[in-house]
Amino acid sequence: MKNSCVRFSTRLPSRFDFQNSVLIYDRVLEKKFGPWIRRFPRRYGVRSGEYLKAVENFAGHAAAISKVGEGLSVREMQIVALGGGSVGDFAGFVASVFKRGVRLVHVPSTWLSAIDSAHGGKTALNVGGIKNQIGTFYPASEVLICRDLLLNQGPARFDDAKAEAAKVALLTSAALWTKTQKVRDESGLFRLLPDLIRAKLKIVALDPKETSGHRHLLNFGHTVGHALESSLHLSHGEAVSLGLRFAIDWAGGALAQKDLWGIATRAQLRRALARLKNPARALAQDKKMVTNKRIRFIFVSRPGYPSIREVSVSDILAEIERQKNA
Ligand SMILES: NC(=O)c1ccc[n+]([C@@H]2O[C@H](COP(=O)([O-])OP(=O)(O)OC[C@H]3O[C@@H](n4cnc5c(N)ncnc54)[C@H](O)[C@@H]3O)[C@@H](O)[C@H]2O)c1
Ligand SMILES: [Zn+2]
Repeated sequence: MKNSCVRFSTRLPSRFDFQNSVLIYDRVLEKKFGPWIRRFPRRYGVRSGEYLKAVENFAGHAAAISKVGEGLSVREMQIVALGGGSVGDFAGFVASVFKRGVRLVHVPSTWLSAIDSAHGGKTALNVGGIKNQIGTFYPASEVLICRDLLLNQGPARFDDAKAEAAKVALLTSAALWTKTQKVRDESGLFRLLPDLIRAKLKIVALDPKETSGHRHLLNFGHTVGHALESSLHLSHGEAVSLGLRFAIDWAGGALAQKDLWGIATRAQLRRALARLKNPARALAQDKKMVTNKRIRFIFVSRPGYPSIREVSVSDILAEIERQKNA
């Protein structure tokens, strides 16, 4: 799988192949970025979120997007995905199947999408409310990362983004972890993006289609994170920061118990676990657990030294009990 070309800029580019593009964009961005959006003669505004990814609605979207794209040559046309991870997953899927595949450009507008989902080629739709049941591997030809777009999210999102940055840094190296901990604000995070993206792509390159299991490392912090996210209705970043704390303390290495940049404290995790009424059910919501009682869990005992170990659901439940009372 070829890595996409990643470009960084301050503003949205004024020179761009607007004419051959079908822009699929998050309507939230109209207010601030309307002038750029309106330069695309063919565009399709969507409401972001999991509803957009529901396969049940796909036929309607496909018909509308076909209409918008009418008259463009398959060879020259490209789909431009402007938005966060939900828009990227949806538009990436569209690009991968539309006319059996057309060029794709990602323009991520959230930290999550800029750090994570715009890279690595995964596209996804949900089935019956279960996330990411249908999808393709379809890397964008180009990823445009634009400072104005990302900084538009506001400082509240910065805290959420820290957990994803911490995740990839801890998986990668002590050097990247040191650099990451120095990030103080959104501008600092923007400057660190090239390093974070390179780190993710390095993991993806070892296992582009998730066959060897190496790519599973990117799930670090997400097993318990997802359980907390859905049960306690937390933001993804908040949940991952708790999930990372759980995994790090379970690994019990040099990082355990310490206060860490971007990662929840012991006390915060203890409080969250105490609110988790039915941990077994919360864990079962993760699709990987329904099919298989054994779970590949990611441990990091020191930066740059991750390991994958198979554990059972009951091992995780026992560890939840232990950490809740620790
Ligand atoms: N493909 C992958 O590898 C991968 C990896 C991780 C997550 N994901 C998927 O990504 C999705 C989550 O991504 P997300 O958090 O970016 O979600 P999202 O697309 O739903 O965006 C989150 C919110 O931010 C708003 N928004 C977007 N850009 C904005 C901006 N610049 N300024 C202000 N508001 C803005 C959106 O309207 C939305 O309300 C999930 O569906 C998840 O499954 C995919
Ligand atoms: Zn995540």
